[in-house]
Amino acid sequence: MAAKIISLINQKGGCGKTTITMNLAATLSLRHNKKVLVIDGDTQSSATSWANCAADDLPFPCHVISLASAAGKAHRSIVNFIADYDVIIIDCPPSTETEFSASALLVSDLAIIPVKPSSTDLWAISGILKLISAAAMTNEKLVSKIVPNMCEPNKRLSQSIINYCKNDENINLFKCQVNNRSVYGEVALAGESVYTSKNSKAKNEIALLTDEVLTYIM
Ligand SMILES: Nc1ncnc2c1ncn2[C@@H]1O[C@H](COP(=O)(O)OP(=O)(O)O)[C@@H](O)[C@H]1O
Ligand SMILES: [Mg+2]
Repeated sequence: MAAKIISLINQKGGCGKTTITMNLAATLSLRHNKKVLVIDGDTQSSATSWANCAADDLPFPCHVISLASAAGKAHRSIVNFIADYDVIIIDCPPSTETEFSASALLVSDLAIIPVKPSSTDLWAISGILKLISAAAMTNEKLVSKIVPNMCEPNKRLSQSIINYCKNDENINLFKCQVNNRSVYGEVALAGESVYTSKNSKAKNEIALLTDEVLTYIM
């Protein structure tokens, strides 16, 4: 077993890195029977707190460990877990100030960049693409993909962001998108994922995202 490594990355806070990390991790584990490790790279420990919110009789289905303090040396620790898991998902911190994100990209197979349908989030993409190109110089296997998150399916802004990305040859876009749904906040507080929630729309869109992720890493 040699784990595939996925980084959730964007210097923008609040775009959905932790939300997608945890829902993807739980779906890979529960729907696809993968052994998944979540690495929390954020000093604010959101992924760790999420898992700690789980009820004793319904623990979060994946291990979550923090490597935030490893900063630019994180890649050295991450590779120590490769033999023990099928998939390692790294929840990167929001800012590029820390070297953590660059370090995680050095050992990643896939970088997932969640982007909210807002103009400022769109303009921030160029910064993250630079970080990814720098990592790709030494990590040739790295594939990077933007996933539109918190979309309003029928709103013109969401659609124009998606069209903007589609028309930029430097941007690789996921085929699927994640919509704006309050259930994402609710499952975080319950230490769960949408996979175990009653919201079938959210469960289905994360299932589609997970299936698409598997086509990029397997
Ligand atoms: N698709 C979504 N629909 C509704 N709320 C979302 C969605 N994705 C994220 N959120 C909410 O947005 C906030 C920021 O998300 P989070 O995953 O913590 O972002 P990041 O890790 O990038 O800082 C959280 O309150 C989260 O519940
Ligand atoms: Mg986060």
